[in-house]
Amino acid sequence: MSANKESWGSRVGLILAMAGNAVGLGNFLRFPVQAVQNGGGAFIIPYLVCFLVMGIPLLWIEWSMGRFGGKFGHHSTPFIVDTMGRNRLWKYIGVFGIWTNIAVAAYYCYLESWTLSYMFHSLGGTFSGMDQNGVAAFFIEYVSLGESTFGIPYEPIVFFLICLLLNTWILSQGLAKGVERVAKIGMPLLILFGIFLAYKGFTITAGENGAINDSTVGLNFLWTPQYDKLWSPSVWLAAAGQIFFTLSVGMGTVHCYASYVRSKDDIALNAMSAGWMNEFVEVVLGGAILIPISIGYLGIDRVTELVQSGGLGLGFRTLPYLFYQWGDVLGAVAGFMWFGLLFFAGITSSLAMGTPWIGFLQDEFNWKRKSAAWSFGLIVLILGMPTVLFFNYGVFDEYDYWAGTVSLVVFALLESILFAWVFGINKGWREIISGADIKVPGIYKFIIKFVTPLLLLWVFLGSLFTPKGGDWGKAFGGEWVLDDSSIIKKITNSDLKAKLAAATDPAVIEQLQDTLFFVNASRILLVTVWLSLALLVYIAYKKRVREGRI
Ligand code: ALA
Repeated sequence: MSANKESWGSRVGLILAMAGNAVGLGNFLRFPVQAVQNGGGAFIIPYLVCFLVMGIPLLWIEWSMGRFGGKFGHHSTPFIVDTMGRNRLWKYIGVFGIWTNIAVAAYYCYLESWTLSYMFHSLGGTFSGMDQNGVAAFFIEYVSLGESTFGIPYEPIVFFLICLLLNTWILSQGLAKGVERVAKIGMPLLILFGIFLAYKGFTITAGENGAINDSTVGLNFLWTPQYDKLWSPSVWLAAAGQIFFTLSVGMGTVHCYASYVRSKDDIALNAMSAGWMNEFVEVVLGGAILIPISIGYLGIDRVTELVQSGGLGLGFRTLPYLFYQWGDVLGAVAGFMWFGLLFFAGITSSLAMGTPWIGFLQDEFNWKRKSAAWSFGLIVLILGMPTVLFFNYGVFDEYDYWAGTVSLVVFALLESILFAWVFGINKGWREIISGADIKVPGIYKFIIKFVTPLLLLWVFLGSLFTPKGGDWGKAFGGEWVLDDSSIIKKITNSDLKAKLAAATDPAVIEQLQDTLFFVNASRILLVTVWLSLALLVYIAYKKRVREGRI
């Protein structure tokens, strides 16, 4: 049995920490961008359906797996899944639940550090008087490690280090005194800032402060369902991907947090409270800031164009300029609130990403919390530096694709099979309803057994074999040409290679060759980390056998 005896301080703290784990940069930056890329209202129905038949079941699955594993002293997925499946290989599937977190944290903390830096720049008035191109150029300069406005050399690296130190220090303080305390402060502040900005977003009036549209244009764009899009698998895949990312399911963090819940305590209502809080923040607040404000000032076409040319940057390249349409003081305050909100959203998620690794070291190798936390900081620093230094060569996107997208689907698919078919739905269901403070609708037993795994399988296969241009009609008609966005084409770098073959400008050729090199190098790095973790799991397993703990 593990010597790790930590637990949550209170139920509210647990729910806020779990909600903080879910509420992240994805709610405010990724969700609106996905919505714009998938036709606005076309996105919302598949998104909500995916939440109901995939998101909620996965939350219940992961919470109950975590609490179940916690009874045996396991606080990370390798040995949690090991107690549920007889086959010895399951624990290596569980490696994903540590690996994903480390790999995502590596680029996520960098993104989080931008928000920290932009908070200071907003307060310092950096964006005051800049036109839209100036704000956009500032962002490009920033991620290219160009000259800093504050005069700090290599400013992005400095902020990345500050951000990592902060994360590591909080993690080293423990679950209740560190993670839970930050969630209790960060979540209410985030919601407060969000409500203020959403109110501003909702009340934009055409002709006022340079707005060209009422906020209704942006809101209608987002919220008017397009029923014909329900037949487009690509939109469904994007919606499913967003549900994974936003709820942090398929990652291993939910299992880890839930493993510290006492065995008799409720998980059914807790999971719903955290999950629905995330949806409120994403759909109501996340949907009311970036899109309505951007569309209010720039129009749908321009926003769509900006999003296609670099999604996540929209909140950085455009909003600081738009806020200044409200005047100098409000511009600075709104900028501070926006980036402050993003920072709190980010840090409550990145803290969750550190917890599985720390739990693993404590359980298996008797590490002290503090040393385990600092080792996490060090690993994320080493793995994250390439995303900082070679951002313009696609390293960041590569991490996001494999760890932040593909891996979530793979792990969620396998764990749903484990839960419903290997562990068994009857035992699984008993776990979900044990101690429950709500009546879990019986229909979910059927959904968890059949619908969720099948949907996950379909999402996985659909991503593996996405047909060209998302034209599934043609594909099923016999002309199945793979799209460059399919996993298979990604592995072979076909998009980059085609661009390289077509390029004539030597500078472009050099940039593409470098990108190809860095993309492959980051994959090798990520695979090496996975294999090292698998080796550690093997060593831990052998240690358990030696000590008679298995
Ligand atoms: N769930 C976290 C987010 O949405 C990872 O950013």
